[in-house]
Amino acid sequence: MTKIEETIPAHGGKLINRLATTAERDEFMAQADKLPRVQLDERATSDLVMIAIGGFSPLQGFMAQDDYENVVDNMRLKNGLPWSVPVTLSVTEEVAEPLKEGGWVRLDDSNGRFVGVLELTQKYRYNKTHEAVKVYGTDEDKHPGVKVVYEQGEINLAGPIWLLQRDDHPLFPKYQIDPAQSRKLFLERGWKTVVGFQTRNPIHRAHEYIQKCALETVDGLFLHPLVGATKSDDVPADVRMRCYEIMMDKYFPQNRVILAINPSAMRYAGPREAIFHALIRKNYGCTHFIVGRDHAGVGDYYGTYDAQLIFDEFEPAELGITPMKFEHAFYCKRTEQMATSKTSPSSPEERVHLSGTKVREMLRRGELPPPQFSRPEVAAELAKAMHR
Ligand code: ADX
Repeated sequence: MTKIEETIPAHGGKLINRLATTAERDEFMAQADKLPRVQLDERATSDLVMIAIGGFSPLQGFMAQDDYENVVDNMRLKNGLPWSVPVTLSVTEEVAEPLKEGGWVRLDDSNGRFVGVLELTQKYRYNKTHEAVKVYGTDEDKHPGVKVVYEQGEINLAGPIWLLQRDDHPLFPKYQIDPAQSRKLFLERGWKTVVGFQTRNPIHRAHEYIQKCALETVDGLFLHPLVGATKSDDVPADVRMRCYEIMMDKYFPQNRVILAINPSAMRYAGPREAIFHALIRKNYGCTHFIVGRDHAGVGDYYGTYDAQLIFDEFEPAELGITPMKFEHAFYCKRTEQMATSKTSPSSPEERVHLSGTKVREMLRRGELPPPQFSRPEVAAELAKAMHR
């Protein structure tokens, strides 16, 4: 066990590494044309990467039926470890039929590049509606996470994986910091407590407020925007990352904050995803994790604080990462600062609340969001992106 793992254990106790060595990679490459192929979509490709780099520790591959069913029904792997969201590789019956349990499968990305291998241990059917209701809390196909489940294949392929090589991220190589590296960075900086922040939206003042409130009580802040697959009306990752760069340059103390990308895909599973997001950040070496209002929510599927309440369903020690819960933050005109109902005496009319949707509408009309909502440089960047 390395020193850093003694400080902040990965989920399950050991940081997983499923990156093939050069020799293993050459061996797999030599068999490239002989292995049966499965083409991964964007989400499965990012899941493959997350498993390989240890972001999904203790998973070593795509889930087998007993883990899958336990996760869906009880939010635990079959060994009892908390885990809230299925990580599965679903294919059509046609694709699954010729594949033999016990054999190797070649995994190609959506460009047909040979990126990984699966040691196929099991093929199994699963109940999509049951997964939708248990994990997403609804069977409606207009929920973007449920839609993905309904559109994917009927058969799950399970087994350990190997990633053939860790490529630089095409857009954000500078911010590609894998769990082993972030753990090392935290140690080098002498941070004993680090709070992780998940986001899929452009940074606004309420984000900044809760990030800084959290940072007041811990040693470091790990800004970890998700850059994997999101729904089509979310702001693209490159725009969001530029906003974060602006913030890092001007509004954050560089010695206390690390900006890195989270390569995984959004599920929009609200409370269940908050647990998943926390466990991922634990694997990156965080001791704390921010959960604000309607974390990973979409539409009105979840209650404002459901993603905070779900943490009470676990013993703190079995999660091994502490949630930092924040109420809905807004700009308070009376006290002229960011606040929540816990700290502000103001009436509703004195509060500036702006949703992502409202901001998008303003930008479309050519208006900039006000400084109470967005730092002006960030607002300008968003306006520029709107008209590109
Ligand atoms: S999420 O899908 O990644 O959760 P988003 O990027 O909007 O979406 O949120 C990132 C984090 O900030 C989440 O923990 C969310 O609960 C929190 N958050 C967003 N807006 C607010 C707000 N106005 N007040 C408090 N917390 C917020």
